[in-house]
Amino acid sequence: MNRAKLDSIRGAGPAILPSVLNCDFGNLMAEVDRLREAGTEILHLDVMDGHFVPNLTFGMPIVEGLRRHTDMPLDVHLMISDPVTYAKPMVDAGADMLTFHVEAVKDPVEVAGKVRDLGVGVGVAINPGTPLSELDVCLDSVDMVLVMSVEAGFGGQTFNPVAIDRIRELRSRYPELLLEIDGGINLSTIGAAREAGCDLFVVGSAIISSDDYTVAVSELNDAMMSANGGSR
Ligand code: DX5
Ligand code: ZN
Repeated sequence: MNRAKLDSIRGAGPAILPSVLNCDFGNLMAEVDRLREAGTEILHLDVMDGHFVPNLTFGMPIVEGLRRHTDMPLDVHLMISDPVTYAKPMVDAGADMLTFHVEAVKDPVEVAGKVRDLGVGVGVAINPGTPLSELDVCLDSVDMVLVMSVEAGFGGQTFNPVAIDRIRELRSRYPELLLEIDGGINLSTIGAAREAGCDLFVVGSAIISSDDYTVAVSELNDAMMSANGGSR
């Protein structure tokens, strides 16, 4: 089913994925329309449970509402302690890609298998302070690695350059793995992430805090495309 969307996500790279985290939730559908009209093709949705991270956002009803409103692939970033319990409800709500945090689970291979069995793309996310070696066990079981360039939990934080080294290392070890970066991506940081070999660039405040989403996306896109994408 939705796993077909994985090919469209993979094929879209390099791409900018807007995060709606800091948008006007009172006008969520209009915000999504503005992001679509600005030229973005995949939505990044930040789900937080107030337990794995000290912030709360939204759950299945919002994902389901967005699914009815747009045909954009939905890339769902689960910053929650129990991704297994909520994986099927999220897929039923319309998620196309589900990313869980390696820090949240005991057995990332088992969790990746359960998500994959639901028919969607599966990603694993890693916070800046977690050793990259924690991923080693599960890299053959996932479609994507989400390298966090801030500590998960809030938009608008400062980019941590450790993420660049991580993208570079993962890219050299896994030339075909889909790599996504999330946190503090803006005109000053997107080029370095692209040069390290990143495919998908989550952008929150650098788009949402601008007056004109089309200008912001187009400037980010230019900066991304003018960087040398390394082996990709
Ligand atoms: C942070 C979220 C990000 C966030 C990015 O925990 O995962 O997706 O919204 O926002 P900026 O681009 O403002 O760092
Ligand atoms: Zn995110």
